[in-house]
Amino acid sequence: MTRIVAINASPRITWNTATLVRDAARGAESAGAEVQVFDLYQLDPFMGCRSCFACKRGKTAGRCVYPDGLTPVIDAIREADGVIIGTPNYLGDVSAGLRCLMERVTFQNLTYKKDPRWYREASTPVLFIMTSNAPDGAYQEGGFYAHMLQSKLMSISHAIGPARPLVCGSTLQVSDYSRYDWDMFDAEQRRYRHENTFPLEREMAEELGTELVSNPWA
Ligand SMILES: Cc1cc2nc3c(=O)[nH]c(=O)nc-3n(C[C@H](O)[C@H](O)[C@H](O)COP(=O)(O)O)c2cc1C
Repeated sequence: MTRIVAINASPRITWNTATLVRDAARGAESAGAEVQVFDLYQLDPFMGCRSCFACKRGKTAGRCVYPDGLTPVIDAIREADGVIIGTPNYLGDVSAGLRCLMERVTFQNLTYKKDPRWYREASTPVLFIMTSNAPDGAYQEGGFYAHMLQSKLMSISHAIGPARPLVCGSTLQVSDYSRYDWDMFDAEQRRYRHENTFPLEREMAEELGTELVSNPWA
């Protein structure tokens, strides 16, 4: 049985990121996979790397063994055939929760040796979903978000395996913009996009989840 781990790294468990992660998870399930979904912000407390270096020696080499809320996620990723990760863009980066997870998952795999550089070959395919206020176009070649996205895909490919992106920009951030004193956003446009484009992105997430199982990328 193909095992897929799906991680929602938004603190909100019913909004844009969580929705797309669950759509991708459903796609993977429809292709016959067993899917385990984690909402990172619902886990027991956790932190990023504690610099204990247990992953660099002895029997625990190559494994993050610091026990906290992330332990079941790190263990599940190690056993997975495919991984779905969804995060909101927070301040031009992934969410802090995902940053903690990436520190732990990436650092455990670094040998600190010239050869080999990694404890294990990172070959588990990853679907990487990012949602944001910025439009999708901001992630295309050239700008800061494009570079940020490429650097995240590169880190993930070293830590877990080859990563494919799905970016969903200009998301609906709140259900009622009139409750806030914001003048940066066109609420009507956001609502329109949520009702017309977001459903297509949900379909795409589901299709990519299916592909992760039926035709995994290398
Ligand atoms: C703390 C915080 C920081 C954010 N920073 C950015 C940002 O730098 N760029 C951006 O495009 N959107 C930013 N956003 C907007 C979110 O990325 C966007 O609303 C996202 O779709 C939220 O995901 P969710 O609905 O799954 O929670 C930020 C939102 C929050 C709460």
